[in-house]
Amino acid sequence: MGVVLGIESSCDETAAALVASDRRILAQRIASQDEAHAPYGGVVPEIAARAHAERLAPMIEAVFDEAGIALTDLDAIAATAGPGLIGGVMVGLVSAKALAMAADVPLMALNHLEGHALSPRLADPALEFPYALLLVSGGHCQVLRVDGVGRYRRFATTIDDALGEAFDKTAKILGLGFPGGPAVEKLAKEGDCAAIPLPRPLVGSGEPHFSFAGLKSAVLRAHESGQYAAADIAASFQQAAIDCVTDRLGIALDAMGPVTALVVAGGVAANASMRAALQALADDRGLPFTAPPPALCTDNAAMIAWAGCERLASGQSDPLDVAARPRWPLDPEAEPVRGAGVKG
Ligand code: KG4
Ligand code: ZN
Repeated sequence: MGVVLGIESSCDETAAALVASDRRILAQRIASQDEAHAPYGGVVPEIAARAHAERLAPMIEAVFDEAGIALTDLDAIAATAGPGLIGGVMVGLVSAKALAMAADVPLMALNHLEGHALSPRLADPALEFPYALLLVSGGHCQVLRVDGVGRYRRFATTIDDALGEAFDKTAKILGLGFPGGPAVEKLAKEGDCAAIPLPRPLVGSGEPHFSFAGLKSAVLRAHESGQYAAADIAASFQQAAIDCVTDRLGIALDAMGPVTALVVAGGVAANASMRAALQALADDRGLPFTAPPPALCTDNAAMIAWAGCERLASGQSDPLDVAARPRWPLDPEAEPVRGAGVKG
């Protein structure tokens, strides 16, 4: 049994957690910066980095207090080392290095996406490798086969926007504020998802990749036409996004070979309609479906601590001079996709 401290600071959530290798979350804290960024309609890197620097140290002390353990009781320290906003990543990684040196325990410089990818195994002890993972967050939209700790094969990615980004942009167009995903989901409940004929980009294509830029533009045109209620736009957008995801995921699953389960992770996995559609897709294919509880889907430090536990068990760690990586694909072998910007 080991205990790992996890630190997350790659975007606009400052978080710390202590997780034991028997899957107990001993303590966790998370502070969102939504209010600081709301006036700008998106995350401002300088504001984020300063907020992480102010909040992280007291937060780490608080999780130690709550769990009733000391630095010397730790078996490893894990921090997100990328991808993400470099200022925030540095705050977390430098803190982790200092603590790892003080405690004389291994440092785990983690890929944030690896945290999301392994989080389903924290929630579900029965989940075995290899599993199919749909990773849908504010910065990413990928389908991966998770073959083991540190072994990820990417089958699909977005050629333009991430899915969470499409939700956030739709929210901005409809004046719902930031972060947009939960607000769009709430408003969509009051709307008719067939009210507006929105496009389903790439649906029917033989390659499993995603595209959401055209859908977002269609949402903007629908809004500007003045013909439609905001709730109908939200519902129609959400349905179009779900149709894109299930179609594209189906193609990726066909290419992937046998897997033990279909798993969804990342912030958009908190969306109940998305989960229901993925459950139906998995049922059709006779695959078990798993989604971590919503609090483990959005950015948090328990998933980073858990990925640290998994790496500890497999004997992996990083040197104290390891560098932060603002860009860091989970599958280094993945081919760049035509039309893809920086989001691969
Ligand atoms: O994983 P996450 O917390 O941060 C990143 O690593 O990006 O994902 C945040 C994204 C945001 O775009 C947010 O709007 C979206 O997840 N999101 C949702 C919901 N909750 C969060 N999208 C749709 N429905 C939701 N309920
Ligand atoms: Zn994330």
